[in-house]
Amino acid sequence: MSETEPQHEALVGLARQARENAQAAYSNFRVGAALRATSGRVFGGCNVENSTYGLTVCAERVALWKALSEGERGFDAIAVVADTEALTPPCGACRQLLWEFCGDIPVILANLTGRREVVRLRELFPRPFDASSL
Ligand code: THU
Repeated sequence: MSETEPQHEALVGLARQARENAQAAYSNFRVGAALRATSGRVFGGCNVENSTYGLTVCAERVALWKALSEGERGFDAIAVVADTEALTPPCGACRQLLWEFCGDIPVILANLTGRREVVRLRELFPRPFDASSL
């Protein structure tokens, strides 16, 4: 992986900041994400819950929708931050969408106590269904 540690840390810092805006009144499980586009712009996202529960959107997808809606089409990396001892990976729905729009990017998992792990999306999402399957 060509990316250096300081770049990872910068992305984690932005995900942590985005997490501060989480709307997680129902689960109280606050998540932040930061998605870096190949343009260099970084898009933060937090989870947004509501009274129907089912319409909840994860932090990763909020970041992705923000970036796509701003015209970004290529992506370098995403950081995901939660306040858990065991690092929190993207859910299945987010893996599908990150795969389709970002490809095999590094996913930097982090918590609030300095724990970090970098995994490729391909490892989290083996044998995907995508446009090449149609
Ligand atoms: N959540 C995320 O935002 N990202 C993840 O990677 C895992 C789960 C949110 C969805 C929901 O608001 C809360 O965390 C509990 O599932």
